Amino acid sequence: MKIFSADEILQKLLESKNPYWDSYLAMYSSLWGGVVTDPGLMLVPIDDHMVHRGDAVFEVIKCRYGRIYQFNAHLERLKTSAEAVGIVPALSFAEIKNIVRETVQLSCVQDCVIHIYLSRGPGGFTVNPFESKSSQLYVVVTKWQPLPPRFYEEGVKVVLSHIPVKPSFFARIKSCNYLPNVLMKKEALEVGADFAVALDEKGNLAEGATESIGLVSADGYLKFPQFERILKGITLQRAAFLGQKLKQKGLIKDILFCPIPLKEVYKAKEIFLFGTTVDILPVTLFEGKTVGAGTPGQIFRALKTLFEQDLFSDEVSEPIWQTSGEKRE
Ligand SMILES: Cc1ncc(COP(=O)(O)O)c(C=O)c1O
Repeated sequence: MKIFSADEILQKLLESKNPYWDSYLAMYSSLWGGVVTDPGLMLVPIDDHMVHRGDAVFEVIKCRYGRIYQFNAHLERLKTSAEAVGIVPALSFAEIKNIVRETVQLSCVQDCVIHIYLSRGPGGFTVNPFESKSSQLYVVVTKWQPLPPRFYEEGVKVVLSHIPVKPSFFARIKSCNYLPNVLMKKEALEVGADFAVALDEKGNLAEGATESIGLVSADGYLKFPQFERILKGITLQRAAFLGQKLKQKGLIKDILFCPIPLKEVYKAKEIFLFGTTVDILPVTLFEGKTVGAGTPGQIFRALKTLFEQDLFSDEVSEPIWQTSGEKRE
């Protein structure tokens, strides 16, 4: 077996080409204290406990039209997740925010997805988190990739998941322990569906692999599962806020966070998935049964429009470039 020199490996990394690298724009690593833009160099050490134990927390944020959407809400959830598992970042959250902003600026695009990882850090290969000497921050910026138009035009197919649902404590932390979520996505795609959603142990609606869920009940309420059992979805919380406008217009009776039993799901007028990269998606086929009229409904269209407008709201969306003079061509 050949033993490679550092130079040989560097050359290999720089020469390698993979089609999926096309969308990788920039990576910050706190191990280097800077950014690389060559995808071959976007690496994390294997002894970081993030790699061999999933011992890390993360966030995915979108930047659209040069504005980072729900930046503070995502950083706040990153902090909550880190605190829940005792990961103590070496940087303050104000520093993390600046690093994220700069990494996006260096990507030189207006539309992208920002992936932030706060790891336990490198140091040994056991399960013992105290082996790691210092938590690390990795920020990866990838190109914004629109979803297939049919998702919005025709709606998506959802099936019920058979993967054991995460216990509440783990469901509420956005950690890199996403094997159940991965298997949910796998099972959906294997049966020709777009997404899978889980029920909790009481048979109430929980969430998708990386999506929150909500519906308009047969009697006209906009309903969401309670946050005790699921990740506190930032998009879902915003949908509940934006939904107030629909209530004022008399399009829905009210907005409720409550247990949603499966039998109510089958009678729903509309069902939606929510998430950072999907915003809101209409579900038109749920476990083989047509939802409502089988086409994206009125409340979907109203919420989608509100989400599109929200991308420009100063309250929840921050320009990448703080002042106009700062912008590079
Ligand atoms: C398990 C899970 N539920 C829901 C969501 C949607 O959350 P958000 O709207 O904050 O992206 C995600 C996001 O990735 C997720 O991983």
